[in-house]
Amino acid sequence: MGSYDGPMAPSYHRLGEVPPKRHMAFRAPDARLYEEEVVGLEGFGGRYSILYHRFAPTRVTKVAEADPLPAPPRPSPDTTLRHHLLRTAATGPGDGDELANRAVILWNADIRLAVSAFSGVESSRVTRNGGADELHFVHEGGGRLDTVFGVLDYRAGDYVMIPKGTTHRWRPAQPTNRHFVIETPGAVRLPRRYQNSEGQLLEHAPYWERDFRRPTELLANDDATPTDVWVRVGDRTAVYTLDHDPFDVVGWDGHLYPYAFAISDFEPISGRQHQPPPVHQTFELDNAVVCSFCPRRLDDGTDVITAPYNHANLDSDEVLYYVSGEFFSRRGIEAGALTYHPRGIPHGPAPGVAEKSIGQTHTEELAVMVDTFHPMQLAAAADAYDDPAYPTSWTAG
Ligand SMILES: [Fe+2]
Repeated sequence: MGSYDGPMAPSYHRLGEVPPKRHMAFRAPDARLYEEEVVGLEGFGGRYSILYHRFAPTRVTKVAEADPLPAPPRPSPDTTLRHHLLRTAATGPGDGDELANRAVILWNADIRLAVSAFSGVESSRVTRNGGADELHFVHEGGGRLDTVFGVLDYRAGDYVMIPKGTTHRWRPAQPTNRHFVIETPGAVRLPRRYQNSEGQLLEHAPYWERDFRRPTELLANDDATPTDVWVRVGDRTAVYTLDHDPFDVVGWDGHLYPYAFAISDFEPISGRQHQPPPVHQTFELDNAVVCSFCPRRLDDGTDVITAPYNHANLDSDEVLYYVSGEFFSRRGIEAGALTYHPRGIPHGPAPGVAEKSIGQTHTEELAVMVDTFHPMQLAAAADAYDDPAYPTSWTAG
């Protein structure tokens, strides 16, 4: 952690009113001083933003212990080293908000992977993950995310990146919401190789600055209504009662802020021959990568097998979250399912797929992949979804 020396957010951004210089008197029309807050990473040596609040964010009237949310993961009793197919789509939306329904299914020290299916009927709590960046892939749902940085509209197919320390509240507008949630105590970044030395995204990157949607409208609430905020760090959760509405920011600027990126805005790269998984990389984490497998033109060389080859990615555990479409290399895997391929065991296309793929010109597959450089632990919560026939599915007719 902390070794990354390049820019990590799409670019500098400013929203609302900020004073001409930092750390100087900045007043509301009634002459009250706004409360400046610097939020930043890596001991004031990393990416940061400066926010101007109507109320000091430190104004707390009560701190109460709370049951940890989500429930801390427990290891699955099944310790067999094998591939897993986890059919998580069978879980319907639960009552309560995103956090109440989030279940961690795989984890290690660098990352937690969770699914959350929630109804969106109940109003969501205000929460802040003080210990991890949260990258939500919104499989189903959509609505607005209230944050101290302003309101971010989101919809199905979006990655929504919420930096650690961002007070926020999901406001889903749909009755069914399904998120694939990636938490990392490090940071979610754009890969360095997509950027020039100034941090600008290069021409051959699979996305550009204008693809990243930033908060558009500040809430700037001037409201002294007491508000509970569920603050989380690791497996500890506490309810902080503030004496005001925390969505009170009148302006901010910097490089640290939440954003949305639609997976459909990822521009896939194809060629004459099969392109390896790194061309699909979308985000870089500490000891993990996130890739997007999107509908695309397939490799068009003569006699080229467009399906992926059997492979053993020896230093990675691999998770694929199936979003929509028939996944190219597999059959019988529905949207909302995950496969977990631990290192040490090869995997590859289903029987017959390689032959069938010759001459195929296009794929409609849509999936999110997470590769971790350290082994992951399967959580007990995953057991209910597990299809035990999967490890031998490559020999099934
Ligand atoms: Fe793979």
